[in-house]
This record gives sequence, C-alpha cells and structure tokens, in this order.
Amino acid sequence: MLDLNRRHLLAGTAATFVAVHAGASQAQERIVGDDRRIRFDTGWRFAFGHLNDVEKDFGYGADQRTYAKQGIDATPIAKADYDDSQWRPVTLPHDWAVELPFVHKEPKAPLKADDHGAVWDPAANHGYKPLGRDYPETSVGWYRKTFTLDAADKGKRISLEFDGVFRDAMVVINGYIVKRNDSGYTPFRVELNDFLNTDDTPNTVLVRVDASLGEGWFYEGAGIYRHVWLVRTNPVHIPQYGVCVRAKVDGTVEVTTTVRNDSDETRTVLVASVAQALSRPYDIQTPQQSKSLQIAPWSTGTVSETHTIPTPRLWSLETPNLYGLMTLVQDDKENLLDSITTRFGFRDIKFDAQNGFFLNGKPVKLKGTCNHQDHAGVGAAIPDALQRWRLQQLKDMGCNAYRASHNPPAPELLDLCDEMGILVIDETRMMTSSPEGLAQLETLIRRDRNHPSVILWSIGNEEPQQGTERGAHIARTMKRLCNDLDPTRLITAAMDNGYGEGITEVIDVIGFNYRDHLIDDFHAKHPNLPIIGTETASTVSTRGEYIKDDAAHIVPAYDTVAPWWATTAEGWWPHFDAKPYIAGGFIWTGFDYRGEPTPYSEWPSISSQFGMLDTCGFPKDNYYYYRAWWRPEPLLHLFPHWNWEGQEGKDISVWAHSNADEVELFVNGKSAGRKTVTKDLHVEWTVSYQPGKIEAFAYKSGKVILKDKRETAGTPAKVVLTTDRTALKNNGMDCTVIKAEVFDAKGRPVPKADNLIKFVVSGPGTVIGVGNGNPNSHEADKASERQAFNGLCCAIVQVTGAGGITVAAMAEGLAGGKVVLKSA
Ligand code: GAL
Repeated sequence: MLDLNRRHLLAGTAATFVAVHAGASQAQERIVGDDRRIRFDTGWRFAFGHLNDVEKDFGYGADQRTYAKQGIDATPIAKADYDDSQWRPVTLPHDWAVELPFVHKEPKAPLKADDHGAVWDPAANHGYKPLGRDYPETSVGWYRKTFTLDAADKGKRISLEFDGVFRDAMVVINGYIVKRNDSGYTPFRVELNDFLNTDDTPNTVLVRVDASLGEGWFYEGAGIYRHVWLVRTNPVHIPQYGVCVRAKVDGTVEVTTTVRNDSDETRTVLVASVAQALSRPYDIQTPQQSKSLQIAPWSTGTVSETHTIPTPRLWSLETPNLYGLMTLVQDDKENLLDSITTRFGFRDIKFDAQNGFFLNGKPVKLKGTCNHQDHAGVGAAIPDALQRWRLQQLKDMGCNAYRASHNPPAPELLDLCDEMGILVIDETRMMTSSPEGLAQLETLIRRDRNHPSVILWSIGNEEPQQGTERGAHIARTMKRLCNDLDPTRLITAAMDNGYGEGITEVIDVIGFNYRDHLIDDFHAKHPNLPIIGTETASTVSTRGEYIKDDAAHIVPAYDTVAPWWATTAEGWWPHFDAKPYIAGGFIWTGFDYRGEPTPYSEWPSISSQFGMLDTCGFPKDNYYYYRAWWRPEPLLHLFPHWNWEGQEGKDISVWAHSNADEVELFVNGKSAGRKTVTKDLHVEWTVSYQPGKIEAFAYKSGKVILKDKRETAGTPAKVVLTTDRTALKNNGMDCTVIKAEVFDAKGRPVPKADNLIKFVVSGPGTVIGVGNGNPNSHEADKASERQAFNGLCCAIVQVTGAGGITVAAMAEGLAGGKVVLKSA
C-alpha cells in the first residue's frame, strides 16, 4: 500500500523549471534529473525562413520530395551537423512580431469610409507589423534546438508539449516531420519516442512557424510565444489531461483517471489518489482511494473514484481555496510508475435568468474585462510573472471576471485566476463544427475543466452564422461536445445581432456584445435565458489627454467618446448594475491592445484605445470610475492634470470619480462647489484655468475622508523609478514592471513630459521590453530606452541569475532614478 502524504502532494505541485542544463560551449542541452515535466524554453536558436523563396527557407519544399522519404527529405537543416551558429539564440516564450518594425505601405486600393464614416485600413489589424502574404521575409520563422538524453531515459516515453505557437507549426525531430498544428492558440503534444537518440547522439528539434495567415482581426504575435515542456514518463503513465476532477460543495470529489499502457504487455496497475488542501491548515486529507486496473497493450484504461472532504473550504473570490488531488500509479510489484497532482477547488456556480450569477449560493455581479494576450515590450510572449501583474491590476480595479477573448488563454493565466479568485469565460477561437474546430474545442475543455475559475465555455464571438439555422446546427454540435466532456458548465456565445434567432435557442447563457438597449426587451421575450454582457462599454481614451485631436489620433480620457456600436462606462454600468437579471458584463477592454486601432483605424495608430489601462498597464482615468463603483473602499480621483499653458482664462472641465457622498472642488484654495455624488456616475465642474492647484475633498456623512489634487508642474527635473516587486525568483523567467515617471524640481508629476529615458541594468537582469502606452508611437519595444508619454514609460526587467540587480534610468538634463531588485 502506498503511503501518500502532504510532502508528496506539495512536491507534485511544485513546478520544476530549471532541470535543463546548457552544454558548456554549444547550444546543445543535456537533459538530466528525473523530473517528469521540465520547461524546455532555453537553448533555442531562431532564424527567419521565407514564404516563397525556397533557398531562403532553408531548402524546405525544394522539390517534390518533402514527404517522400521520412527522416531525410523534410529539410537539410534537420541534420545534426547543420551549423546554426548564425541563428539567433532565443529563450521562449518568444514573439518575433513584436521585434519587427512598424511598416506602413500605401494601401493597394484607396481606403473608403464605411456607412458610419470610419476608415479602416486592413493593415492596421495587426498593428502595422510586417506579417502576411505581402511580407514573405518576416512571416516564417524557424526554431532549432539540439539536446541529448540521459541513458537512464532509454525506455521512457518522451514527448514535447507546446502551449501555443502562432501559427501553422511544423515540428521536425531528427529529420522526421512529426506534427503539423494549425491553430495559433490550441496547445499540442508531440510524441518523440520512435525518432529519438537515447545514446549520446544529439537530437535535433526544428519548428517551422508560418504566421502569414491570421485567425483574428487584432495583433496575434508570431512564433513559439508560450512555454514548451519536455515530458518523460514510464510506458505506463497518466497521459496529458488524464485526470478529471469534479468537486462539489458538499465535499464530494469525483475523479476519473485515465492510464495509458504504451507497452507490448498487458499491465495490471494500482491507481491511488488522495485529496488535500494546498494551503494552511493542511488538516483535511481524504483517505487514500485505490483501484486496480488492467490495461491491454498500447491502450488506455480508466478508473473512477469518489473522495469526500467533510467540510471543504470553498473556492471563492475572497478566499480562493485550492485543493490538490495526488494520483499515483503503481505496478503489481509496488514500483511507482507515475504520479501527478491536479489542482481543483470546491465551488458551486449557477446562472439564473431572473437573478443573475451565483457563486456558492451567493449572488455575484460579474464585473469583468475582455482582454487579448499582448502587452507592451513583449507582445504575445507574456512571462508568467507579467500575467500575474496584469491580473492584479484588473483585480485592483475591482474586476472579478476575465473573458479570454477570443481564444484559449495561456494555461498559466487560468492557474493564476484560480489562485487569485477571478472568474473566467474560456473561449474557443473558431465557431465551427469542422473536425479541426471540434478538436480545438475538445482540447480546450480537456485542458481547462479542472479549473475552478472557469465558469462558462464560449463557443463563438459575433459569428456571421449567429442568427441562422446553420449557426444553430453548428452550435448544437459544439454544445454536445461541451456537455459530453463537461456536464458541469454551461455554454455561451457573444452575439451582436440575430438575438432571438439562430444560436439563441441552443446556447445556455446569451452574451450581448454591446446593444444594451435591446437587453430589457430580450429579457421580456426570453425570460428563461440568463444574460451577460460579453462585451460592454468601449470608451475610447488616450491616457493623459483631455482634448480630442483627430489629426493626432488622440481621444480625451473623460468618459465621453465611444464608437457607434458601443457606449461609455456610465452608459452601460448603471443599467447593468440596476438589473438583477443581467448577470454582469465584460468591458471591452481591460488593457489597450495592439492592432485593431480604434477609433483611428489607420496609420500612424498601432493599438486600440479601448482599455481601462494602456498597453503598459498604466491606468487611464476611467479605471477609477470602475474602481469607485466596483470596489467597496472609499475612492477619490481628480482629473485632468493642471498644466494648461496658453489656456489661461479658458474653461476646463474638471471631473472626479468617487464613491463618497459628496465631493468639493477647490481651485487655488477657493471652493468651486460641493456636489452630491450619484451612484455609478461622476461629478464635474467647469473651471476657468489659472495655473496653481485644484484640490478635491471627498465627504462621507459630512466628514472629509479623502483628498486628491493636481498641481501645475514646472519643467522636468528628475526621473523616478518604482516597482511593486523587488524580490524576484531566480528561475530564469521572473520579471517585474519598472515604472519611470518624470517629476519637476518640487516633486510634482510633469503631465506632458516626453523625455527620452534610458534604462541601464547592472547585475543578473535584463530589460526584455519597454513601452509608454502611446497608441501612435513607432518606437521599438525591444530596446533599452523609451520616450515618456504624458510623463510615464516602463521597462520590464527579467532575471538572468541570482544576485542584486540595479536598474537605473537616465534622461538628458534630468536627475536619474534607480531601483534595486534582488533575485534569489
Ligand atoms: C467587437 C469584437 C471585438 C472587437 C470589438 C471592438 O465587435 O467582438 O473583438 O473587435 O468589437 O469594439
């Protein structure tokens, strides 16, 4: 009988990151140790291929023989002795699109305005990155890595797991084409065994990535932009996504475990499991369950068991308690064959057509944001620590939900939502019941169904077939698959027309993208269908700007401008807040994102302006609207800045976001009036500008509880660096966001400062990207300097080893700033 204890359980959940060791002089890596799953991100080399030119594409497809003789014909660069020293070393995750310059070509045909007067340049979708059929030199990338396996691994099953490659990936191992994977978002796994050298002969893995075609209408990145893992197991093992855990709030944990036998003999194994809390107190542990299983050669077997935790600590937004299910597989001689830990949580979710969403029996209004998966400096290759940082900014705004629009997110994002208490709409990219579409959906559900954070599967977004009978057929097939794989969650789709028709009758929860004015009527006609706002709001705003300037592609940061299909923050939230039958909504978007520049969909704009935070994660003023009404803490935020040189005597609109009872504004010490705050709205004054100071006092029950001010700043005098994390992990990938802000000699922020700021790192760290949130900037993301935009810019600093790291910022004529980090 196996003795499973907490040590096993915790050991099983600790991610093992640095078990791959670089060879001394070459890019070849020797895989050592016996970790089951190791990060396979380092030691890669990268070179551009070519879409059309065979020679520049390393001879790939030179003649008819690409697939003729396996192992020799695929491409000459698969050979172990190919000299890749001219290729650039890269560490994954890697997005080559973000490294490319912004390119503007004259459109092939003159751009025409649509019915609403908006001009749309198709090249803007990708944020003017040179990707696509017109850019054959920068649309295909090759990754190459060589590694040797230990003799001890002979006889093991070896595979690579790719979390996400954009897109059309071809994996070649020792000359054999072993996998083609179209999707840019769906993970895939490649079994290497038959093709591997397990003596000291190096193995060569090549990945050709073709990003010339897109799957979206926004920036999608290019390359191996998520982690890759090397997995080594015994022939009898738990396959990928092999454990399915369904936990109920009454404490029952239903477990289905699949075991695979990749050997020529029938094997009899014991499958044992135990569930335990993953955070203190660890007191609760279920009795071990074990079942015997006989598995025929080269097939799988399944066991089901039920655990009971008498009084489980529930997973909630405030206390996202997590449990671990440790599963062991043992042979009939009591040898341990495999062990993994699966995280899960006890929680109950319900959508009610009259009363909205319930978590553990309590009503929860979904206060969500939609997000794409790119960030300043790094594009789609977001390090795990940056994922956490992004989610924290959203949580700090009061956000409790995240819509992964419009594609499966990185797995780490869901791990983090589990840990941080954030609810997720998990969305597949393609709404189709084609074999490929269903395969993508199946992988999504198998991968993500153990996450307590996931509350809905979304099968589509504004699909052309949404209001049609064909759409209903497709949705039905997709729903059948969802229900088969996961009967515990409902499905939704984000609709922008055809409400009441087509897929409406199939989906369980209807998603409204905008069109808020139709919701009440829809509810009256379909009183049994729960409603969410899958996309809401869409105020467009440029951080730190307060005057609309169409020529400069600048939109004011007051909550005043939204595209024709959308509304402002105040245009949707009061309505959603007041109606219990609307389960909540997801703002389009949390962060500005690259591509789909809106409202200016042409050069020089390269990113959208929908975000509550800009592409760097610097909050815009509307962020504080939501923070005031989505969080319970008292809040006061006053804007705009008070540097209106040349506007003396002119009227300036002054706003405050606050959840206090009243707010009083003082202009250079004189009251400009005390205003009562109406729930879900801002307060506003018109002030004749004179330099000096505006100050707001927020009152609760007649007492001043908060103050905020804006002062006319002098000229830039110094740069100040700040970061929210100085203690970093020496794991080869931890990173922190360093904010650089320009102040005057008296320590006042200079709101329009645009100084060029240079970042210099000493010690084991490096700048992996910079940004300033300017939607019209064409400066490089991969650089160590950046102009401030409206007083701010940032650098993302990643660890490269252990020790103290000093990040200094310098700007001509200004006193420099620094922060000291520690990597351990
Ligand atoms: C929606 C769409 C989003 C985004 C947004 C811009 O129609 O679903 O992906 O394009 O509009 O407002």
